[in-house]
Amino acid sequence: MRLRLFITGGTGYLGRALLRIAAGYYVLGASYLSQHPSASPHIDWTPLDVRDPQAVRAALVRFRPDIVIHTAFVQYGPDLVAITAEGSGHVATAAAEIQARLIHMSSDVIFAGERANPYTEEDPPDPISAYGEAKAVAERLVAAAHPGAAIVRTSLIYGFDPIDRQTQFALEIAAGLRSDRLFSDEYRCPIYVDDLAVALLELGETDYAGVLNIAGAERLSRYEMGTLLVRALGHDPAKIGAGLSADLPVRRPRNCALTSGRASELLRTRLRGLREVLAERS
Ligand SMILES: NC(=O)c1ccc[n+]([C@@H]2O[C@H](COP(=O)([O-])OP(=O)(O)OC[C@H]3O[C@@H](n4cnc5c(N)ncnc54)[C@H](OP(=O)(O)O)[C@@H]3O)[C@@H](O)[C@H]2O)c1
Repeated sequence: MRLRLFITGGTGYLGRALLRIAAGYYVLGASYLSQHPSASPHIDWTPLDVRDPQAVRAALVRFRPDIVIHTAFVQYGPDLVAITAEGSGHVATAAAEIQARLIHMSSDVIFAGERANPYTEEDPPDPISAYGEAKAVAERLVAAAHPGAAIVRTSLIYGFDPIDRQTQFALEIAAGLRSDRLFSDEYRCPIYVDDLAVALLELGETDYAGVLNIAGAERLSRYEMGTLLVRALGHDPAKIGAGLSADLPVRRPRNCALTSGRASELLRTRLRGLREVLAERS
């Protein structure tokens, strides 16, 4: 029998990748403001606002998922805390009540990014942005409401079909449509969306509880990442200038590299670095 999988943020970048590969599951995708695709034999849709605890509970009680993957969030705006932090708590509370497995998506920007070594699962959050703070609060709320949940810290997510936001931004600079620079002193471990989605489904069928880093194997600056992707997509990156995050008046997390050794031991899915993904794609 197919496992029942509930995906919040089913209309988002990661949510759509999960839906593309979840053919073996019976899936309920949740949308918020975006129009969702039509239902198919194994995918249904429901509207959901994660700020509403009763609506979250009703959706989960009705669908009775075996696994919940919570990707929904916002990065900015007046509802940042209500959606990204408190909404995660509502999802965790409802998932715990129906004893569903929960995978909660967190981020590397829960860290200040001021140290030389990559962050491990043991490192406590020390956010320096409102978004990082909201994701750190979300981790605490999820862990308290659902101690069996897996809290996945990931990095910049990229992909080709469709192209992700970061790569689209770099393509627009390369095309001379914007004059922004890409930071050569902000380091991350970008992950290919398909690798991440496969790893999350695999993790969903384990009972791993607590924080798990799932990021790409290669540490790159935003400048390196943008130029590599633009070139791989057949465009000239010459117009992409490098800038320094350190020169900005606002402090930004600079070295948020994550070590994903534990995930690599736990999961069969390979968490490839960007150059490896590009080499295997060409
Ligand atoms: N993208 C990255 O590079 C990156 C890096 C690190 C961590 N992450 C984490 O990975 C997860 C997925 O990121 P993503 O880039 O795939 O996100 P995304 O494309 O921005 O999608 C966000 C999703 O959240 C939904 N949403 C927003 N407000 C909501 C609300 N009030 N109630 C219910 N749903 C709501 C949106 O629904 P509608 O579209 O229907 O409005 C959308 O489906 C997030 O938790 C993020 O923190 C992402």
